[in-house]
Amino acid sequence: MRIYRFNEIDSTNTFLKGRRDLENYDMAIAEVQTAGRGRRGNEWKSPEGAALFSFALKEEEYLPLEEWRKLPLVVGVSVLRALEGIEAGDYQFKWTNDVYLNEKKVSGILVEKVEGFFIIGIGVNVNNTEFGELERRATSLSRESGRSYEPEEVALKIIEEFKRCYSKFLMGGWSELLYEINSKNYLKNRPVKIDLRNRIEEGVAREVASDGTLVVDVEGERRNYDVGEIHISF
Ligand code: BTN
Repeated sequence: MRIYRFNEIDSTNTFLKGRRDLENYDMAIAEVQTAGRGRRGNEWKSPEGAALFSFALKEEEYLPLEEWRKLPLVVGVSVLRALEGIEAGDYQFKWTNDVYLNEKKVSGILVEKVEGFFIIGIGVNVNNTEFGELERRATSLSRESGRSYEPEEVALKIIEEFKRCYSKFLMGGWSELLYEINSKNYLKNRPVKIDLRNRIEEGVAREVASDGTLVVDVEGERRNYDVGEIHISF
């Protein structure tokens, strides 16, 4: 495992994706990203003070596709658990893989695939306190607790927690992780709009099902939405 540190880079995910000599748990961390990427082609604002990092995870050939679909959720629980060790308020998990703090987004996760590896990119708002147009929807650890933290320490804690959750997952411990996801489910019983790209559906979110899909009551019917297929907005 190698750690690549940058004062500034376009995106730590893009950096790892471009390497041809990846090893399991190689990590890239930057103080600032000039072209930070979020899910669905969104920009991820990456100012100084945030923890901006990515790591490589070797694909296990024996795991079927249905199991890999749960990976973003396993990453989400790891971030949740690691951040819960930092007292700043009430943390929740927002399907598919965001972590909320006091009802505002504090962390986002982007999982991408290259030959033989997943590149797991995580952004945590740590000491940054300006959110521009996202002001009402985003926060940071520092903003909620009034303290400051070492971003790299936060990143290493998350990777450590991921290793624990991931080995639990590989050893058949998914139901325990799922229980945690559901007990901290930010979306539970909230009205949601589901953006299916060509149309919008509206309903009330319920639990995360055992296959990792989100159950939503839509027009009196329970529907399951797939990981990565949809985007929930309010
Ligand atoms: C999202 O919420 O849409 C996902 C955001 C992921 C941001 C992180 S920051 C480190 C890594 N490098 C990137 O370009 N993106 C991820």
